[in-house]
Amino acid sequence: MKLWGGRFEKKPSKAAEKFTSSIFFDYRLAEYDVLGSIAHVKMLGKQKIIPKTDSAKIVKALWRVLAAVKSGKFVPDTSCEDIHTDIEKRVIKLSGKSGKKMHTARSRNDQIALDERMYMRSEINDITAGLKGLISVFVKLAKENSGLVLPGFTHMQHAQPVKFSAWAGAYAAMFSRDIERFKDCFKRVNVMPLGACALAGTSLPIDRNYVAKQLGFPSPVKNTLDAVSDRDHVVEFISDSAVVFMHLSRLAEEMVIWSTKEFKYIEIPDEYSTGSSIMPQKKNPDIFELLRGKTGRVYGNLTGILTIMKGLPLAYNSDMQEDKIHLFSAADAVKEALEIAALVMAGVKFSRENIRYAMKNDFSDAVEAANYLVKKGLDFKDAHNVVGKIVLHCIKEEIGFNDLSLSELTEFSDKIGQDFYGILNQ
Ligand code: ARG
Repeated sequence: MKLWGGRFEKKPSKAAEKFTSSIFFDYRLAEYDVLGSIAHVKMLGKQKIIPKTDSAKIVKALWRVLAAVKSGKFVPDTSCEDIHTDIEKRVIKLSGKSGKKMHTARSRNDQIALDERMYMRSEINDITAGLKGLISVFVKLAKENSGLVLPGFTHMQHAQPVKFSAWAGAYAAMFSRDIERFKDCFKRVNVMPLGACALAGTSLPIDRNYVAKQLGFPSPVKNTLDAVSDRDHVVEFISDSAVVFMHLSRLAEEMVIWSTKEFKYIEIPDEYSTGSSIMPQKKNPDIFELLRGKTGRVYGNLTGILTIMKGLPLAYNSDMQEDKIHLFSAADAVKEALEIAALVMAGVKFSRENIRYAMKNDFSDAVEAANYLVKKGLDFKDAHNVVGKIVLHCIKEEIGFNDLSLSELTEFSDKIGQDFYGILNQ
């Protein structure tokens, strides 16, 4: 079914119909499409644009469609071009002639813009909840591993010891910024585009503020051309999702490396690991690899939406129908990833023994040794040089700072005293 046709002498070809149809993915917006229509039709009745009796009949029909959507009984009618057509067809079937008035003072251009914004509001709430859940796992891990010192890396080389809580806190900080980004995006999503119609608004006496209020939007979009052609918020949403994935992929990479035989810092729980079909001994960190790998999909979605929007003249263009492919893909991926990341991280066990062993004679307390000499009056540059020489000596002798006697140490600097040993990590 189509929402148009009068102007044509011939029907569209099957191939054209198939190519232009979006019902196969935009059916996911059914709930928001119905809710938006309820607010719109109530407004039409209130403004006497359509008779109140028609408005009431349509709203009743829409509630029935909504009940079907909510109970999972809604099966998209793939003979319809899109979800808007599908729902209008049902409304006309349920309410008869009244249903034909539903699309007064509206276009699918402002309708889809509204549906997407409503969908995104809900997704942002889910995603921020997911991020909060993951942050709480890092807080829990920090409690579980209190007192644990990790080698801090720069250039993938042992740099300085860091408290476990500092490591966990770094991830918590990343995910907190992700929450801020999504909350900021929400502000630009939360504007009501209906009433823009195709692009130029309408001469019918609509009440956009009423519709906005009904749907919980603080205000309508100011410019009608912008209302139907703006997808900045979709770009932002996918970009924010890409940043979440960037963070998850960094965590994933650390977990993959730390689970290797070479490191053995962590044990990934069995329930969140996988085996090999040929090598019986294998325990693979697939979840972390896929968190890393799915990042590619979302980066692809970001490139996709940016490319779709590039060079589009005002106002609505059908190119924009493709935005949902990228929006849904990014939203699904980020929600799923946050959920599984929280589950697997909650079960990761850190081996104090192996971590301590890895830090043996790694000289990661060299900065502390230099600071010790600064406190004893040396310039930092000289202190750096003295400690560098001690490190070189130790490497050659295959020993650590602690293995040097006080008289050996004083050969490097007479400022070193017995209290030097107290500042060492091991
Ligand atoms: N299906 C379209 C989309 O997803 C909405 C309809 C736009 N209007 C049109 N005349 N094709 O963006």
